[in-house]
Amino acid sequence: MEILITTFSLLTLVTAIVLIGTRGRPGRLFSQAAESLRHMWDNRGPIFWLATCVVLVLGFLFFFYASPATRVGAAQPIPFSHQLHAGVKAIDCRFCHPYVARSIEPGLPPVEKCLYCHNYIIANHPEIRKEHKYFDTNTPTPWIKVFYVPEHVMFNHQRHIRKEIACESCHGDVRRMDRLKGKRFKMGFCLECHRKKQVNLDCWLACHN
Ligand code: HEC
Ligand code: HEC
Ligand code: HEC
Ligand code: HEC
Repeated sequence: MEILITTFSLLTLVTAIVLIGTRGRPGRLFSQAAESLRHMWDNRGPIFWLATCVVLVLGFLFFFYASPATRVGAAQPIPFSHQLHAGVKAIDCRFCHPYVARSIEPGLPPVEKCLYCHNYIIANHPEIRKEHKYFDTNTPTPWIKVFYVPEHVMFNHQRHIRKEIACESCHGDVRRMDRLKGKRFKMGFCLECHRKKQVNLDCWLACHN
């Protein structure tokens, strides 16, 4: 995304400079190169301001897209913290994600799992009340999914967990994150490790359906 925006803005800037230099006829850049360059130099004032604007807009966009809030990950319906639960309280990942080794869709924990503890722990906390509301109305908590593989990819945790590949090698340091920072896995990421560990690289058979 950032690369697209940058490329597009820089192309626009270069086009504008060429158009100024050749007074609207880009062909002159080749037929009357010296004169075009001189014309650009004569207009260095406006060109300078144009470039400044482009840089400012780019800076704003980068700030907007890459600001800490976006790097932290999506806000969840209940501000659940992996750092607190899996880190500080050291609750095992499998307690909340028990099907991860068996199912293609490990899924996110149902609210019963939370209430198992939170019926007793900080039961009146406003966020925990929200859990009760989901439970009472039989609504699954609308957790926002943050890790993706493209749709045509078959990913299965089972083989990986059986080889004792740590959750962290794909999901990052979950135990130290409040909000999980998601990731759209690209094929290169899968292949890099498969190459290192010398496993199946025959992707059409193994990963793509
Ligand atoms: C080899 C990389 C890898 C490892 C190791 C790994 N995961 Fe994943 N995990 C993924 C990918 C890729 C997805 C996204 C799958 C999808 O969208 O179909 C995912 C998705 C998930 C999901 C969301 C599933 C859903 O239904 O939305 C959970 C929960 C999860 N992983 C937990 C774990 C836990 C716990 C461990 C360690 C025991 C672990 N993962 C280890 C790659 C990995
Ligand atoms: C094994 C027990 C256990 C389970 C299961 C559990 N929690 Fe917790 N949770 C805790 C403990 C312990 C605290 C810390 C309480 C305190 O601050 O005194 C806590 C705190 C919280 C807080 C308050 C954080 C804050 O900033 O004050 C929220 C919100 C929360 N949990 C949500 C959840 C959700 C959602 C689930 C289900 C996915 C869940 N918990 C499952 C033990 C658990
Ligand atoms: C107390 C319950 C609990 C524990 C313990 C727990 N998780 Fe989670 N996990 C959740 C909840 C709730 C979500 C959905 C909300 C979110 O993404 O923060 C989630 C989401 C995830 C996801 C994101 C899936 C997706 O695509 O959105 C991954 C990956 C994950 N957990 C991995 C782990 C790992 C690795 C551990 C152990 C270090 C762990 N979890 C421990 C409750 C738990
Ligand atoms: C950190 C290392 C690592 C990463 C990252 C990883 N894998 Fe793997 N993968 C392995 C290992 C090791 C095996 C072999 C397991 C075995 O021998 O049973 C494997 C096996 C597989 C298999 C079974 C291959 C077969 O022989 O049938 C598939 C499919 C697969 N991975 C898909 C993926 C996809 C898709 C991704 C990216 C989202 C991914 N893997 C990321 C290490 C990794």
